[in-house]
Amino acid sequence: MANDADPVSADTRFFGHPRGLATLFFTEMWERFSYYGMRAILILFMTDQIAKGGLGFNDAKAGSVYGLYTAMVYLMCLGGGWVADRITGQRRAVLAGGLFIVAGEFCLVAPGLAFFYGGLVLLIFGTGLLKGNVSTIVGQLYRKGDPRRDSGFSIFYMGINLGALIAPILCSYVGEKINWRLGFGVAGIGMLVGLVQYVLSGKYLGDAGLRPAGTGDVDLDRSQRQNAIRGVGIGLGVCALLAVLAATGAISLSVTAISDGLGWGLLAIAAAVFGWMIFSHGWTLEERKRSAAILVLFIASALFWASFEQAGSSLNLFAERSTDRMVLGWEFPAGWFQFVQPIFVVVLAPVFAWLWLALNRRKTEPSSPAKFAIGLVWAGLAFAILVPASKMAVGGAQVAIWWLTGTYFLQTLGELCLSPVGLSAMTKLAPERAGGFVMGIWFLSTSIGNWLAGKAGSLYSSMPLPTLFGSVAAFSFATAVVLALLIKPTVKLMSGVK
Ligand code: PHE
Repeated sequence: MANDADPVSADTRFFGHPRGLATLFFTEMWERFSYYGMRAILILFMTDQIAKGGLGFNDAKAGSVYGLYTAMVYLMCLGGGWVADRITGQRRAVLAGGLFIVAGEFCLVAPGLAFFYGGLVLLIFGTGLLKGNVSTIVGQLYRKGDPRRDSGFSIFYMGINLGALIAPILCSYVGEKINWRLGFGVAGIGMLVGLVQYVLSGKYLGDAGLRPAGTGDVDLDRSQRQNAIRGVGIGLGVCALLAVLAATGAISLSVTAISDGLGWGLLAIAAAVFGWMIFSHGWTLEERKRSAAILVLFIASALFWASFEQAGSSLNLFAERSTDRMVLGWEFPAGWFQFVQPIFVVVLAPVFAWLWLALNRRKTEPSSPAKFAIGLVWAGLAFAILVPASKMAVGGAQVAIWWLTGTYFLQTLGELCLSPVGLSAMTKLAPERAGGFVMGIWFLSTSIGNWLAGKAGSLYSSMPLPTLFGSVAAFSFATAVVLALLIKPTVKLMSGVK
């Protein structure tokens, strides 16, 4: 039971976990509701005709915006984590992030391209401030060595997928059947509910995430904080300047150009980060070896998400244009496919948790890189089955819903081999004083994956679908083979971490 001296870690009021976990569970559930609800209709809204309330973008442009937006959202988690560490603490960052998200979704409800792009920018900042930091607070609910930590994260992962599951049902229905913009409104209302809940039940979090991380040296903390505030100011200033220059026509920035530039930017950031982690003598030899292992997992993870996150881009278009969605004389919204995958997660996550444990007992549990390789095989199969499906759809025919359902099922098997495993591998491989930063690197791999998924979406109408889907499958299989060859050396580099 909770006691006054140690209100958080002795607390067992939420399924044996601290009551604060419920606060964070529902905050993240509503945040993901808002994110996935919005994402379910984003590309469909952009590619729909203006007369029907869409934006009238072609597939290439819509794919670029989709890739740019989803990649920036996760890239900003790096910035959001840093702001929380240095300036605000996680709790205030999450609150601010939630407010930005509500404002962003409501901007999307308003007509006009300025509101559309402005809304996306607010959503990028908001999610960046919220998503990573809410997970960090989860970690702070438990003392070091508390055996409940891993299962706490599994419960939290359920919250993520519960939000992702409900959202497309509501937002796609409202968006596709009534009005696109109202669909974004529903996403905004969800985040608002989550935010009210977060504020009202914030008291259960004790002092987790209340203050920025300190070094113990007051003067150093103060100067780091001032530098960070200056850094944020400069960053925002540059963004504002670019926006003004673009709005007044002084520079011409096409979305496609920005999106292409970001791809190179992401690679440059990754190269710089790993160059530093692997070659700088500021780290011990063991830390540098582990960073090399993180790099292997990082590349595999980016390529995994590149196929997985096409759920919102190319697969969403395939659902809309080439899948027969008639049930009992009614055509269900294309975005409804977006809840298939989270349902599989909710059902299969406990099965996987049991499976790893059972294999562990027999001493046959695969290592993390081996699980990643298996995950990539599932990801490849998910796209391989779409090759015959898309061949059947050539010429405008519509295929049965089972194809995409099968794809999402296989993708989930892959996700469960890779995503939770990756999260925990990052926490174990990270040098002690760089835990938050390494978590940010994990989000960076997701960011690159999302960017690639957008690129694949922009090829949707310029490349024959069997070729597009077949290439994605071939890429995944090839990565799996290379990774399988690297399992042994990578495990060695991990020096003792399973
Ligand atoms: N379904 C996961 C989520 O929404 C996907 C994801 C994995 C996103 C890793 C970011 C990082 O949280």
